[in-house]
Amino acid sequence: MDKLLDWVNARIPMTATYNKHIGQYPAPKNFNFWYFFGSLAMLVLVNQLLTGIWLTMNYVPTAEGAFASIEYIMRDVEYGWLLRYMHSTGASAFFVVIYLHMFRGLIYGSYQKPRELLWIFGMLIFLILMAEAFMGYLLPWGQMSYWGAQVIISLFGAIPVIGDDLTLWIRGDYVVSGATLNRFFALHVIALPLVLVVLVFLHIIALHEVGSNNPDGVEIKKNKDENGWPVDGIPFHPYYTVKDIFGVAGFLIFFCYVIFFMPEGGGYFLEKPNFEAANPLKTPEHIAPVWYFTPFYAMLRAVPDKLGGVIVMGAAIVILFLLPWLDRCKVKSIRYRSNLHKLNIAQLSVSFIVLGVLGALPADPVKTLMSQIFTLLYFGFFGFLWLYSKNEKCKPVPERVTK
Ligand code: HEM
Repeated sequence: MDKLLDWVNARIPMTATYNKHIGQYPAPKNFNFWYFFGSLAMLVLVNQLLTGIWLTMNYVPTAEGAFASIEYIMRDVEYGWLLRYMHSTGASAFFVVIYLHMFRGLIYGSYQKPRELLWIFGMLIFLILMAEAFMGYLLPWGQMSYWGAQVIISLFGAIPVIGDDLTLWIRGDYVVSGATLNRFFALHVIALPLVLVVLVFLHIIALHEVGSNNPDGVEIKKNKDENGWPVDGIPFHPYYTVKDIFGVAGFLIFFCYVIFFMPEGGGYFLEKPNFEAANPLKTPEHIAPVWYFTPFYAMLRAVPDKLGGVIVMGAAIVILFLLPWLDRCKVKSIRYRSNLHKLNIAQLSVSFIVLGVLGALPADPVKTLMSQIFTLLYFGFFGFLWLYSKNEKCKPVPERVTK
């Protein structure tokens, strides 16, 4: 075995890569449960890729065959129901995990220098993930698939000059049709997953170049022993491989519960109108996107003008890319930051959740007004942050990590 290993190592740096990224990767010793979500995101990604491949074996990407092929997978394919539920619940689980992963970055200032690029790769992943989920949702060719796509694609029509041509180009037809389904299928099963995998690879490389942040926001690389090993660092393997297995077990309990006992997630993971085949002549009473898009959808609807809504919704995502530069404070972790900052983060969290609820409900004047207020509060978070973070009164940050 040793000889074989030497032979491989002389040709490709296998052991060196393993040591750099796993065996000898110094991870801060104070990671808490918030640090489970990166490895969980990888687990869910692998789940989506594998179940996706098996679904593709029986799925028919045509307007005539798509809906029936999903029914066939659910009823006739051996364990097809399990594959499908793992994939559809997996999509929601992906966003639960990613939102928590992003929130961790927010509270511990993990986007700050020197992790700006790591954050940007993360945001690009988020963007591609949204496109991936949107295109995947068209594939069952149910009523909500069809009309949801119709609404979202038509938003591009609000762009001046090129809008109409752009929507035609995206759909490949004058309405959402088999041509649209076919190209969304191609993008969903191969193009976007490839981009996602490459981005996740870059995300991890960027993380390991600068090293992980931690709940104290202390740079462990600044304090090294005589061998150059950070005194507050422990090898990723076995300490965090074992800890992450614990996180995976906890996650699987929730995940399996949903898959086996409430696969439709109360109509939030798989919406009711989607159990009816797409019908271009019958608009569903209430069109709402899946829960993970609803905060952004509420911001879109908050603006009476279509183009304005599209701009606001786009800005809500773009502004997250700029977070590393909007936060001008030198202290990273929420543990040592001002009460004002804590309040601002709490405010953002509440606003995002309220917007999520508003986006899922049919619009009326009161809800529209509420959406407008909470959209302002959402953007207010970033504005306030930029204002107070320069001269923020923070608590002293310890030299070494605490707990
Ligand atoms: C497929 C999606 C993603 C995967 C597989 C992934 C994976 C990971 C992993 C394995 C880690 C190290 C473990 C941990 O800190 O939890 C990590 C760290 C990090 N990720 Fe992600 N990530 C994803 C998406 C995102 C997104 C959307 C963002 C934010 C925009 C993001 C921002 C970060 C940051 C800032 C860190 C460093 C955290 C720290 O050291 O405190 N990631 N990611």
